[in-house]
Amino acid sequence: MRRIALVGVGVAVAAVAGVAVYMGSASGQSNGDAAPIYGIKYLEGYRDWRLISIKQLTGKQLTVAGGELKQLRAQLGNDLAIMALRDGTLPFPDGAMIAALHWNEVSSDADNQALAAGFPGLGLKSSFAGDAVNVQFMVKDSKKYAASGGWGFADFTNGKPGSEALHEKCFPCHQPAKDRDYVFTRYAPTP
Ligand code: HEC
Repeated sequence: MRRIALVGVGVAVAAVAGVAVYMGSASGQSNGDAAPIYGIKYLEGYRDWRLISIKQLTGKQLTVAGGELKQLRAQLGNDLAIMALRDGTLPFPDGAMIAALHWNEVSSDADNQALAAGFPGLGLKSSFAGDAVNVQFMVKDSKKYAASGGWGFADFTNGKPGSEALHEKCFPCHQPAKDRDYVFTRYAPTP
């Protein structure tokens, strides 16, 4: 995935006293600039949206020769997106928004020690969402974004929007998911 290489190393997602810090400078958020082409600004409230699914992405870094890419990714939806996914109704209604949060995957020594102690010999390994890499948004507005399947796309690293060249790649690459209104991620089963 080409876009991965274009994002730099982000800042750690901080957790203080059990409260996730997701706004303000502590997590390097919005400077108010709108993303190119679609004009979407950083959506401040997205950490409160609900979980659609999670993914893991591995491969090679494009920017760093020989560098390995290992990411954990979460897809969250606002109420309109979640309702559409649960009901299985397509296309998504105007106002539906999806956020894709990308982190570097980091092995958790503390978890691993506890797991090894509790379940000796199984070799259990745990990892977690480490440094934030970037966040990507899809915002549904069938009139405004008619030329791109009704979706506006935006990518932010440390609250700063990515380049125009980066944003030109979003919609074309989402074509394979056309039958699902250009959204790849499916609603994860409830355990
Ligand atoms: C190289 C192809 C490719 C490009 C370019 C691309 N995407 Fe995606 N996108 C995917 C795939 C595949 C997934 C699902 C797998 C994943 O999340 O890693 C995805 C997932 C997403 C999701 C979660 C919803 C969904 O469709 O599953 C969002 C939001 C998203 N992309 C936004 C963007 C934005 C914004 C851009 C441009 C800045 C962009 N994408 C560029 C292929 C691409």
